[in-house]
Amino acid sequence: MNIRMFDSREELDAFAAQFFIDKINRKPQATLGLATGSTPIGIYENLVERYRKGDVSFSQVTTFNLDEYVGVPASNEQSYAYFMKNNLFGHIDLPVDRAFLPNGMADDLQAECAHYDGMMAGQPIDIQLLGIGHNGHIGFNEPDEALQGGTHVVTLKQETRDANARFFASMDDVPKLAITMGVGSIMKARTIMLVAKGADKADIIKQALQGPITTQCPASLLQAHPDALILLDREAGGKL
Ligand code: PGA
Repeated sequence: MNIRMFDSREELDAFAAQFFIDKINRKPQATLGLATGSTPIGIYENLVERYRKGDVSFSQVTTFNLDEYVGVPASNEQSYAYFMKNNLFGHIDLPVDRAFLPNGMADDLQAECAHYDGMMAGQPIDIQLLGIGHNGHIGFNEPDEALQGGTHVVTLKQETRDANARFFASMDDVPKLAITMGVGSIMKARTIMLVAKGADKADIIKQALQGPITTQCPASLLQAHPDALILLDREAGGKL
């Protein structure tokens, strides 16, 4: 693992954006794995700004997002489809028909998972962006006795629903199910970029990067990835 620590979030976000831009400029048809949550927002802001300056074009890029809630339509502000449109897709020249998220509104969720895996099988991910949950989840791969390789439907842990409740009107509105890429799909990415910011991530970062590789901390699997880049601000890296 290549661990880099930054004095400020601004420096981290600019570095991460540059990393994506360098890849796209070398390989205009790059396939990117993208994430939602508060962590990547600054990176997406940088990418939009750099796109506007003419430093990068996404016109031939394909993207696959990690996850999506079940039962929350793309028109709902809490859906990850809406998040991506609002924070990135709506502001760059990425063709809408090459920006993929799992469809949490599909009638047949199992078929949707297989379909998503099928699409990714034809297009390996060049860089997979990841945040990390306080419990070590990546995507919605929650700590468990066993983890799944492929895209699957997951029952969200109460702590994850609690963490996401801030975005919903009431706890009852927080979805109980999501579709997520599995750890197998994530680990297949040529490069993984995991980003963590803030002191509240310091304990789980220490556990994930320096603790045992265990399904009880899905992010610890990245220790076994051949090209994992870990970007931390001083606070998130404070216990390493
Ligand atoms: P956050 O979420 O970026 O909002 O901290 C990360 C995650 O849960 O994967």
